[in-house]
Amino acid sequence: MEQKKVYVETYGCQMNVADSEVVQSIMHGAGFRNVATPADADVILVNTCAIRENAEARVYGRLGDFKHLKKGNPGVVVGVLGCMAERLRKDLMETESFVDLVVGPDEYRKLPDLVEGALTGEKGIAVRLSRVENYDDIIPLRTDGVSAWVSVMRGCDKFCTFCVVPFTRGRERSRSLTGVVREVEDLVARGFKEVTLLGQNVNSYRDDGKDFADLLAAVAAVDRTVRVRFTTSHPQDMSDKLIATIAGQPNICNYVHLPVQSGSDRVLELMNRTYTADHYLRLVEKIKRTIPGVSLSTDIISGFPTETEEEHKMTVDLLRGVEFDGAFTFKYSPRENTKAWSMGDSVPDEVKLRRLNEIIDTQRQISFRKNQTEIGRTVEVLVEGESKKSMHEFCGRTDTNKTVVFPKNGVRAGEYARYIIERANAATLFGRSISTN
Ligand code: SAH
Ligand code: SF4
Ligand code: F3S
Repeated sequence: MEQKKVYVETYGCQMNVADSEVVQSIMHGAGFRNVATPADADVILVNTCAIRENAEARVYGRLGDFKHLKKGNPGVVVGVLGCMAERLRKDLMETESFVDLVVGPDEYRKLPDLVEGALTGEKGIAVRLSRVENYDDIIPLRTDGVSAWVSVMRGCDKFCTFCVVPFTRGRERSRSLTGVVREVEDLVARGFKEVTLLGQNVNSYRDDGKDFADLLAAVAAVDRTVRVRFTTSHPQDMSDKLIATIAGQPNICNYVHLPVQSGSDRVLELMNRTYTADHYLRLVEKIKRTIPGVSLSTDIISGFPTETEEEHKMTVDLLRGVEFDGAFTFKYSPRENTKAWSMGDSVPDEVKLRRLNEIIDTQRQISFRKNQTEIGRTVEVLVEGESKKSMHEFCGRTDTNKTVVFPKNGVRAGEYARYIIERANAATLFGRSISTN
């Protein structure tokens, strides 16, 4: 029998990217072959994100394409996976009648059976969340490369009032330390040079008395020539031990993504973030003091319900005070069933947008200024591959997660190389080889 073909398309965060590799591994185990275009597939799986309304709108748009494709080829199976599948469940199958499968993030082991049913015309839905599923025993199907994502925990128990993740991903649970270390050993043996440990809140990682700092140290010890990164940290659980571990191990990158969301204590409380701006600033000082040269980034939400102009300015002030290297900024998007949903959506869209733009502008100026101070310095980069903008140049990143673009002369992806920074904008550093002038 000819091998059936599966196409997987992924939206959302890195955890979804990692989950899609788990899905591909499960499908591969059931005899499916991966294809790169939906038109070639017998089964199309879309791994979706529900974090903001526009994330869902994008997926709906894309589902329109698959509906069209299915008109021409009625035998093709279309499955919706991930956070939107979990959130919208039956609605999705009822309103989008061409969808054959709806499968939530903890039910991927059922995919081969569900797909088999769907291939004979039987629709399937599986959206139960689990307290234990962590796919610890499944080796994700990855293509060889320089960097790999490694999921170390699933779910989130923080219940920030704006956020769907605790509902779409369920309760926090960690993989075993030995399982993670074994996976990293395999990745190193296959030539990967960088691993990023993933979780919605990696700082809550626990395995039999071992915490995230222990896991990070164990992973870093696998091979000192391999860079170790991690994301995301919640300010509440960022321990002194973790900060000391990052500082003490050379191959743990000096980069911390630490979402703050707002600079106003009143808004932070409404968000259930469990820290104040002052607590956050003290934490940042400690991180900067303990890890010299550390690079920091954050997430900001503008226009949370009832946010005033003054509170917005507090966020801008906090950005100026911390001087992050980068920030991911979002307009507040109300999500049904979250606590903030019942607070209304009181900030008009144009005000949200204006505030968002002020935040973006402020951060751009800071990033630009910080990047200018890199000019003349020598940096070590891990070469990732061709630059997006020019085939004559390569790009890579510094330990501090800054993107560097440089000429192609002789280096290969996966190698470390040193460059002198000769110019910079807010997003990118441009380097030249040390040996030439
Ligand atoms: N677990 C991480 C990130 C979760 S989602 C953390 O705790 O920070 C990534 C970011 O999306 C969040 O940090 C937040 O800034 C943003 N976000 C989440 N829900 C949102 C919503 N309803 N509207 C706008 N932005 C949101
Ligand atoms: Fe969402 Fe908050 Fe959990 Fe992050 S910590 S995933 S923002 S609930
Ligand atoms: Fe989106 Fe789910 Fe990730 S909502 S951000 S894909 S955890």
